[in-house]
Amino acid sequence: MPSSATGAPPKELRPRDVIDLGEGVITLLDQRALPSQERRLSLTSTGEVVEAIATLAIRGAPAIGIAGAMGVALAARRALEAGEDPMEAALAAGAAIRVARPTAVNLAWAVDAQVARVHEASSAEPNRLVSELEGAARALHEAEVQRCEQIGAHGRTLMGRGARILTHCNTGALATGGYGTALGIIRAAHEADSTVRAVVDETRPLLQGARLTTWELDRLGITYTLICDNMAAALMADGRVSNVVVGADRIAANGDAANKIGTYGLAVIARAHDVPFYVAAPTSTVDLSTPTGRDIAIEERRADEVRGLELHGRPIAPADAPVANPAFDVTPAHLIAAIITERGVQRPPYERSLAAG
Ligand code: MRU
Repeated sequence: MPSSATGAPPKELRPRDVIDLGEGVITLLDQRALPSQERRLSLTSTGEVVEAIATLAIRGAPAIGIAGAMGVALAARRALEAGEDPMEAALAAGAAIRVARPTAVNLAWAVDAQVARVHEASSAEPNRLVSELEGAARALHEAEVQRCEQIGAHGRTLMGRGARILTHCNTGALATGGYGTALGIIRAAHEADSTVRAVVDETRPLLQGARLTTWELDRLGITYTLICDNMAAALMADGRVSNVVVGADRIAANGDAANKIGTYGLAVIARAHDVPFYVAAPTSTVDLSTPTGRDIAIEERRADEVRGLELHGRPIAPADAPVANPAFDVTPAHLIAAIITERGVQRPPYERSLAAG
């Protein structure tokens, strides 16, 4: 199998390289500019936080949850510095940020937890409230990274020697604030067995696999093969994929899992070729209040994300081509061999295993 690791020296992304909360500022690596440019953004207002999340400067379910929690703390800190009411500012920020993207439950979950802190602290010193919101946002960041490391440790036990692990979208440090979920499993498996290889779907339309997962794998020194999304079946038919491991944006109580568009198709192909299909996600992505995948809101994004690309300097489609652009799809639980969380390897029936943790 041709592989395309660059041989670049391994250079691990630290959590604070991905996103960091300072006093009155959030700094993050702008994922829209990767891999060609490593550009840092500084966010100082709720509007900038909403825009960074909506335009995918920061993306991936756990990472947007962390950004949301930091955004609420940022608004409170800014209000305090301006002599305004931090509580009011935090609540207004929470309302605006929690709806910036609808599918990943992590965003609403993390923002709601901050809003609950504001309500609980209603009579507290403004200074104390702001420090508490900042501390909670930083603690969430640390906790998500730890959850990912545990997912990696559990998940690697499922990958055989010399595994060829196909993954979709980007689920690495960039998507989680550090370490990664599905990519964390690839990383942990590779640490245990250096012959492990990744197969990376480019992930149309926004190419998170081609742009971001390859960039992370290069830095980690893990050999990979980049493929177009429509090549997965051919590689599986040739026996060139031993496992599929993907992340999730929201896992319903019955185990149905929403993830980047194209994931469902991969699960169907994997079943047809007897390739185990795994979902890796922290429990912050499990939404027991959503009964099934049919109840998950799927984000529909701009038509130009699909038709606006260029090839050889020319548009790939008529400028007004009618387009469908659902950003996520739902993989039914019956196609998922196991869901790997920080608590362990959860097997069907998921109604029972997810509820039990
Ligand atoms: O639209 P994106 O890039 O935010 O979509 C990201 C994904 O679908 C990831 O697979 C998912 O959030 C899991 S990240 C650990």
